[in-house]
Amino acid sequence: MKTIHTFYDKKQKKEKISMVTCYDYSTARLLSTTDLDAVLVGDSLGMVFQGNNDTLSVTVDDMIYHTKAVRKGLPDGFIVTDMPFLSYHVSPEDAVRNGGRIIKESGASALKLEGGKEIIQSVKALIAAKIPVMGHLGLTPQSFNMFGGFKVQGKNLAAARMIIEDALALQEAGVFSITIECVPVKLAEIITQLSDIAIIGIGCGNCTDGQVLVINDALGTCIDMKPKFVKQFLNSGVESIKAIETYISEVKTSTFPDSSHTFSIDEDIIIQLKKEFKL
Ligand code: KIV
Repeated sequence: MKTIHTFYDKKQKKEKISMVTCYDYSTARLLSTTDLDAVLVGDSLGMVFQGNNDTLSVTVDDMIYHTKAVRKGLPDGFIVTDMPFLSYHVSPEDAVRNGGRIIKESGASALKLEGGKEIIQSVKALIAAKIPVMGHLGLTPQSFNMFGGFKVQGKNLAAARMIIEDALALQEAGVFSITIECVPVKLAEIITQLSDIAIIGIGCGNCTDGQVLVINDALGTCIDMKPKFVKQFLNSGVESIKAIETYISEVKTSTFPDSSHTFSIDEDIIIQLKKEFKL
């Protein structure tokens, strides 16, 4: 069974950690048959599931709803759930109230929060309440208005230093792992070397202790955009479109459904019905 200790052990043994996002039961069932270390119910669901341009409108209730579905498909999996925008920024008490609800009502194993020193009191309060926390630094999508868009972070000395200092502050506060998103490869390598906890990268190259990918990107179901750092391990978008076109054509030609997809009834009953209804 995967737990926060999987992250500690793999960091020590220098074994890579793999993680993908998941938002629904059926996908969670598929993932339950694999050897993934963790699943992230990311607030990216606001974009890939709800169709918004950013993650800002996602609510605590949304995160609970999706995590509950994922938990049903992954009864023994290690599930990290994102705390959505403004659910941990107001006060540490508010963070514990919202984070506690997510853990109690959804079955998440841990929470992920975006930010560094500015949210450290909330991180500490959650950990004091015995809730494992994963940090998230670099391109933190909830701050995209402050960044002026979805841009690579940490490219100048001051910004790079700040991300390193934030990582060390989060580690000191007790997070079990940190996701870093879209920072230059060499900076990701330094953060990974400096940290005693597992650094999980997305858009940061292969020097981190593990990787996380949005599952729709990995499987190619998002046909609208493909960020530079994404590798499509399957082109299921194109395959799905082909399959639906085939379905439409088989419906039109009555080749679907055939006898293998139907249920039979005693012929005498049909004769009786036809007589009764004058067919
Ligand atoms: O919400 C999400 O999917 C994430 C990953 C991109 C790390 O935070």
